[in-house]
Amino acid sequence: MAQLPRYGRPDGDADRRAYAAIVAQAFAGEAELFEGWVRSFGDDVRVLRAEELQAGLVIYRMGQFFGGVSVPTWGIAGVAVKPELRSRGYARELMLENLRENFESGPAISTLYPAAPKLYRNLGWEYAGARCMFAANLSELPVAETELVVREAGPADQETIEELYRLRHGYENGCLDRSELIWERVRRAPRETPLFGYIAERDGGPEGYVLYTQKRQSATSFRYDLLVRDLVCLTPDAAAALLAFFARHRSVANRVQFYAAPDDPLALAVARTTELSQEQRMQWMLRIVRVKDALESRGYSRHVSARAVVHVVDAALAENAGDWTLDLADGQMRVSRGGTGGAQLDVRGLAALYSGSFGPAQLRAAGWLSGASDQDAALAAMFAGTAPWMPDFF
Ligand SMILES: CC(C)(COP(=O)(O)OP(=O)(O)OC[C@H]1O[C@@H](n2cnc3c(N)ncnc32)[C@H](O)[C@@H]1OP(=O)(O)O)[C@@H](O)C(=O)NCCC(=O)NCCS
Repeated sequence: MAQLPRYGRPDGDADRRAYAAIVAQAFAGEAELFEGWVRSFGDDVRVLRAEELQAGLVIYRMGQFFGGVSVPTWGIAGVAVKPELRSRGYARELMLENLRENFESGPAISTLYPAAPKLYRNLGWEYAGARCMFAANLSELPVAETELVVREAGPADQETIEELYRLRHGYENGCLDRSELIWERVRRAPRETPLFGYIAERDGGPEGYVLYTQKRQSATSFRYDLLVRDLVCLTPDAAAALLAFFARHRSVANRVQFYAAPDDPLALAVARTTELSQEQRMQWMLRIVRVKDALESRGYSRHVSARAVVHVVDAALAENAGDWTLDLADGQMRVSRGGTGGAQLDVRGLAALYSGSFGPAQLRAAGWLSGASDQDAALAAMFAGTAPWMPDFF
């Protein structure tokens, strides 16, 4: 029998179960639940093997919005190595093999949440955006009257919800163009409480929605908090209607938690009447896998015409390294090999520039951009945008 490659797809159900056991142990979960989770990825599982299965990961095929355009990405998750085999370089080998596969046959970028940032940074991923969770006291939320009606959402509203999500988040740098697997995560009710859904609409026209669960403060308390999974408001009236909807739980509930952009209009609406605390901030990482494809596939302003040369440094993917000329006109970026006089730009810095999280001044302070600075203003204009974020964790 031909020997299986060291890196590749699991060879049948026994391999899938072996990988599920590795992730379940790594993340302190139940093996059975993780078996279902691994199965849901179908072919999008990768493992490292010798005599036994040693490590693995899963790939979410989805998109991420940059400059108003959905750029296909591989979302990497479930990276885990058997505990007795750690610190031997297996995770590095797995990620490097995956990066090479991604370069050769995958999309132009890769996105992940790091539990071990050094592992990914060494290979060219960099922090490029945030997931911020805010909390507010229900008793202090504004209770304004609007013309909107808040009604319970049913199964038939899924299309409306997805459309509203896209209308609002499609113009937010970093937000996911959610795949079915990501939508399933958003819609899945936890074991202990139902998931509630409501739509805010004006004369039958939807302007926002909320999906949330309720969590008791303690086993002995009847009071609870509202944990928002997903909150989309296209208009200030939708925000006002949904905030008032939350406030009307205040006789039995204390707080509402939700995810929003660092400077979200919704967060500002809340902060007008009550202190808004940031409870959690997680950072996701981005890898520019193929420089030319990645740069040419995101969106840009039609009102910026600029040219810049950069000398990209990429130790893990030599094909990306060297001089590139960036030409932006009419909202279309054209990237060609060569050019002279460009500043040195680490591929990790390119990820932060691409997402809009860092401009040239921040890149220089971080040590990712060095040398000639005469084209910094051109780079700043090309990638100018609002702070990148996403409400999802994967
Ligand atoms: C994190 C994990 C995947 C690393 O696997 P590994 O095979 O031990 O890692 P490697 O030996 O290839 O080390 C690669 C790099 O990651 C870093 N790293 C390894 N384990 C780490 C840990 N537990 N915490 C932080 N960084 C770690 C190392 O410093 C190393 O960098 P270096 O070569 O510059 O020193 C492994 O410890 C694991 O399975 N942990 C539980 C699950 C988990 O946390 N997965 C990550 C999800 S994003």
